[in-house]
Amino acid sequence: CVDIARLPKETGYFTYDSGFTATASCKSAITYIDGDAGVLMYRGYPIEQLAEQSSFLEVAYLLMNGELPTKAQFDRFEHQVTHHTMMHEAQKHFLQGFRHDAHPMAMLCGMIGSLAAFYHDSLDMDDPEQRELAAIRLLAKVPTIAAAAYRHSIGWPIRYPRNNLEYVTRFLHMLFEVPAEPLELKPVAAKAMDLLFILHADHEQNASTSTVRLVGSTGANPYACVAAGIAALWGPAHGGANEAVLKMLEEIGTPDQVGKAVEKAKDRNSGFRLMGFGHRVYKNFDPRAKIIREMCHKVLSELGIDDPLLEVAMRLEEAALKDEYFIQRKLYPNVDFYSGIIYKALGIPTEMFTVMFALARTAGWVSHWLEQQVDPEAKIGRPRQIYTGATSRDYVPMAQRG
Ligand code: ACO
Repeated sequence: CVDIARLPKETGYFTYDSGFTATASCKSAITYIDGDAGVLMYRGYPIEQLAEQSSFLEVAYLLMNGELPTKAQFDRFEHQVTHHTMMHEAQKHFLQGFRHDAHPMAMLCGMIGSLAAFYHDSLDMDDPEQRELAAIRLLAKVPTIAAAAYRHSIGWPIRYPRNNLEYVTRFLHMLFEVPAEPLELKPVAAKAMDLLFILHADHEQNASTSTVRLVGSTGANPYACVAAGIAALWGPAHGGANEAVLKMLEEIGTPDQVGKAVEKAKDRNSGFRLMGFGHRVYKNFDPRAKIIREMCHKVLSELGIDDPLLEVAMRLEEAALKDEYFIQRKLYPNVDFYSGIIYKALGIPTEMFTVMFALARTAGWVSHWLEQQVDPEAKIGRPRQIYTGATSRDYVPMAQRG
């Protein structure tokens, strides 16, 4: 690993790495991935252990602070987060300005960016307490804003956070109409959502986290940084994939159509890819996909749901894993392949899937932003380019141009 930035200028080293396939943009102690072995750890703890034994809020603490909390530390953290769940009343007017049919990700992005206008008191980023406060505010307010954006999109009144509930249940309570189907009271629903949030909480320098860091490197405020991260996450090649997977499975429709879809995905000219397959770093099973697949079966069976899309997903996975094209390119199901089926079973509408991802990834984004703020080696992110334009030429007055 060569630190090009530290080589003397005279060496003339200059690298071209479109897509950052082999370039580290920072040093980080938060998340470790071994893509060949299919290993993922947060702060050294294997994802499998955290998925089984921890909770999303505890994982958020771990990511932000580096260590698992004691009971007293966790209680304080939970109290702080709970204390900041309310949305500023004026933000409700801001939300109401959006069209009802706006995508909830568009609303989330705008609303989170606007937090800088509502909480400009905490923008002294040299003060560690102010930094922590901004991170806590983000973690606390994203679920409230996400639920409000969804309810605005379907014309329902906003529900205030019920602060006697814990993080995930509180979010479910804000999202859904009660008492039609009090989903939040079903333990498997809250457990499944908590698990999905843990698995989505961080993933080192993915596109959205790198975006947060790039914006953060300019000294921009954390709300602007996270809004930029949300924008990056929205794309179908990144967090938008969970929504795209479900649409793809619906389009495939029945297990007998799976073969056709696999053939189409192998044809480059078709412009079609198997959504939820492949990963830049994992060249083995995405460890999160294994955990999610198991939870998917559990949720459907405990909620008594017989979703034909699960059958399509399983046949698709089976067919792709046997196919030479996918084997050679080491394309395995990723975290998004089964998450959409769980969200659907929990009654989460498709256009909210990426919002759910954003909610969980906020824990990772704020942790990276906090880490970057105290990194003595951090510099403004300023990539170079390979210029491919015209060589030097003289200006021609308009009257003389052909
Ligand atoms: N279906 C079919 N072929 C694929 C797929 C796929 N899902 N993914 C990659 N390939 C093929 C490419 O066509 C390419 O083939 P070639 O060698 O013949 O040219 C080869 O595999 C390598 O693909 P790249 O696009 O170069 O791989 P990259 O690392 O840049 O992309 C990515 C990774 C974006 C995740 C890609 O696999 C993809 O588009 N997957 C589908 C979208 C998706 O599920 N995204 C979620 C990622 S996980 C996350 O963000 C949480």
